[in-house]
Amino acid sequence: MKFSTVGGALALASTALASEGFHKYSYEEYVVMSCKGAVLSAATFCEKDTVKTYKCDCKNKPALGSWINCIYDKLGENDKHGEKIVEEYCSEYNVTLDSEKLQKAYANATKYIVDTTKIDGFNKTAIFDTPVQYNKKKYVNYYNSYKARWGNVEDTMYLGAGLLGYWAVIFLVATIWNFLNKVAFINKAFHSKFVNTIRSKLSLSSLFANKKHSTPIQFLKVVGGFVPLRIETIVIFFYFALLFIFSGVRYTFVQNDTIWKPVAAQAARYPGDRTGVLALYSLQLTFLFAGRNNFLMWLTGWKQSTFITYHKWISRFNFIMVLIHAGSMHQQSVGMGYDKFVTRLHTFWYRWGIVAAAFMGGLVFTAAYQVRKTFYEVFLGVHIVFAAIFLAASWIHATQFGYEQFTYALAAIWCFDRFVRILRLISFGTQDAKVTIISEETLKVVIPKRSYWKAFPGSYGYLHYLTPTTFFQSHPFTIIETSDKEITFVTKIKGGVTSQIYNQLKSKPGQTGIIKISVEGPYGNPTNVTRYDTALLYSGSTGIAGPYSHALKSVQSGKNQQVKLYWIIRHWSSIDWFVEELVKLKNTGVEVIIYVSQPDSAIGSRFNGDHSSSNGSDSEQKSEKLSSNDDEKSGNLDSLKKQLDFIEFRYGRPQINEIVHNDFSESQGTIGIWTAGHNSMVDDIRSAVGENLNVAKGRVDFFDELQVW
Ligand SMILES: Cc1cc2nc3c(=O)[nH]c(=O)nc-3n(C[C@H](O)[C@H](O)[C@H](O)COP(=O)(O)OP(=O)(O)OC[C@H]3O[C@@H](n4cnc5c(N)ncnc54)[C@H](O)[C@@H]3O)c2cc1C
Ligand SMILES: NC(=O)c1ccc[n+]([C@@H]2O[C@H](COP(=O)([O-])OP(=O)(O)OC[C@H]3O[C@@H](n4cnc5c(N)ncnc54)[C@H](OP(=O)(O)O)[C@@H]3O)[C@@H](O)[C@H]2O)c1
Repeated sequence: MKFSTVGGALALASTALASEGFHKYSYEEYVVMSCKGAVLSAATFCEKDTVKTYKCDCKNKPALGSWINCIYDKLGENDKHGEKIVEEYCSEYNVTLDSEKLQKAYANATKYIVDTTKIDGFNKTAIFDTPVQYNKKKYVNYYNSYKARWGNVEDTMYLGAGLLGYWAVIFLVATIWNFLNKVAFINKAFHSKFVNTIRSKLSLSSLFANKKHSTPIQFLKVVGGFVPLRIETIVIFFYFALLFIFSGVRYTFVQNDTIWKPVAAQAARYPGDRTGVLALYSLQLTFLFAGRNNFLMWLTGWKQSTFITYHKWISRFNFIMVLIHAGSMHQQSVGMGYDKFVTRLHTFWYRWGIVAAAFMGGLVFTAAYQVRKTFYEVFLGVHIVFAAIFLAASWIHATQFGYEQFTYALAAIWCFDRFVRILRLISFGTQDAKVTIISEETLKVVIPKRSYWKAFPGSYGYLHYLTPTTFFQSHPFTIIETSDKEITFVTKIKGGVTSQIYNQLKSKPGQTGIIKISVEGPYGNPTNVTRYDTALLYSGSTGIAGPYSHALKSVQSGKNQQVKLYWIIRHWSSIDWFVEELVKLKNTGVEVIIYVSQPDSAIGSRFNGDHSSSNGSDSEQKSEKLSSNDDEKSGNLDSLKKQLDFIEFRYGRPQINEIVHNDFSESQGTIGIWTAGHNSMVDDIRSAVGENLNVAKGRVDFFDELQVW
């Protein structure tokens, strides 16, 4: 079992422990508490006595007698449970009672007991020294009030557990499915028109007909984001429905409430309590799903990006819950009078509650797609700082109500993830990586590794460039395990750390440098290419890393299976950064097909007749060297094709639906599909797979290795 699984289970256990702070009131306890109020409504036995304290009842003989008289009247003289509660309450005031003493107090009280309603001009607030009959009307009010208030808390705990239960059922089904799926017969059995229809309309389908899932949608260039798959949307929708229903059911409003007299205060308080605690439950999921070492990934086989999708949506719902909680509690405070509101406003817990809500809002809004897309590192830094402040503020706030264990569980989940991340970094250590700029578009990172550190096809690692300005950043890249001693990343040069490293290297000889790095990984779920009769590997640009590794694994396994590796690139020059890897597939039986969507583009320096490596000072000359002369280019192209004669070159952008349809109709047996590349290409492939399931002769499994968040 994976280390992260053990830790994850521990984290969940701590969540379960979070309910330790919750006190479940029994009927007997409600009686004991209500009797206290009902007796106090009839007479006063001690100075400064209140309904919430039991010092007087435990220490003052007539008070104890009156109290126990009420309790026995309601529960019967033989009820031991009620007696135990009285004993427990009194032990807090260092008064030791037992059944015998209570029976004695009762016997004594019944000898002298009086009904104060029958005493003319009786002064309820003056200290009295004779046992009294409890106020029966008030007893009912107290009982109903306590039951409504604490019953709501109890319901809330069960409903919160129900929310987690909803996910538990989903994870159970997904886990069983994941493990069964690794058994070949399930694979073969699930290829019928009915199953294919469900898959194409539900589990493989994008939410809308526009196919967009990995491709973000945008409105007015400001609002945007990734749309969950249809199946994910259904899961999210039902969770929202549960939150909505659970926030609105099983409230009891009490006439003549003894806790919150104004009805408005009661009406605001119950939903306030409910939504606050439901948010504490829901937050466990938010924290767990955000982690890289979430054990559920391993159990369900779901991608990290799937969990991030749920993380985002649950967090948005949580924020709504927190807003309702804050609004309700504010309303309740005001409902009990302006003074009460001002008093609360001056308390620590109220103020930290406001801080928690504000930072939660900050977390949701600063995580907007535009921010992540444009300033990913800023988003990440702000997210971590805000989450830490939110957690500390929630802890202070929740402690006031005995719910602090929920926040301990959140901290445990977070710390555990960080701890495993550090272990993973230590296990990889620091290495001198050879980083080369190739074709002005890609950084090829070749890293020596220890032999015990093993990756697998499709796995990824978070790369740290250990330079003063970049060491704190970690970016995910797909691992190509080239040998037992080495791994390679091919990373597209974008605008952040990749561009920083590009700038550092561009003037170096051969545009190459040795940079200290570390890798946190490997992450991902292993999938086995050799289980399928046919493996279709569709990739684009640097997305080749995963599909290529699967092809290599098939070759190394010696399994006789049909393997087709597609690689869609824009320019001929892209071949330069992957040629060594491609050559390893020569004479292996793997069909390699490269689409060049801009076939008029220049040939890269590797095949343009000049094999000397370029250096930084001549990067401009280098682009000039990219042949523009037609004759020279066609000669170079011929040379390229000759050297790579095992590859079929096709010109232009492929029609995805067409190639998937043709591949399915030509394939025999079961088909495994792996894909990574341009977002819209992957979306097109997912859609084409769904549409063509019935064309295939066997079961089709689809592994989308592209992850975006
Ligand atoms: C599991 C996985 C495997 C990947 N494998 C490869 C690969 O093999 N080759 C490759 O070229 N690219 C890969 N990517 C994409 C790669 O992680 C980003 O392109 C890279 O982080 C961008 O770095 P940057 O600082 O230059 O980007 P920026 O210019 O700052 O950002 C470009 C885009 O990358 C996203 N991004 C930036 N940092 C991160 C991050 N830490 N995590 C997730 N997204 C981020 C941003 O949202 C933005 O949309 C992979 C991504 C994931 C999630
Ligand atoms: N696991 C992962 O998540 C993972 C792994 C590796 C890489 N990546 C990321 O994947 C991305 C791959 O590169 P890129 O996005 O930069 O690709 P790109 O270079 O923009 O495009 C690559 C090729 O795909 C073609 N293409 C794009 N959309 C297509 C479609 N719908 N149908 C057919 N062909 C299509 C392009 O054709 P045109 O020229 O006609 O546009 C181009 O030839 C990178 O951003 C990289 O960071 C992610």
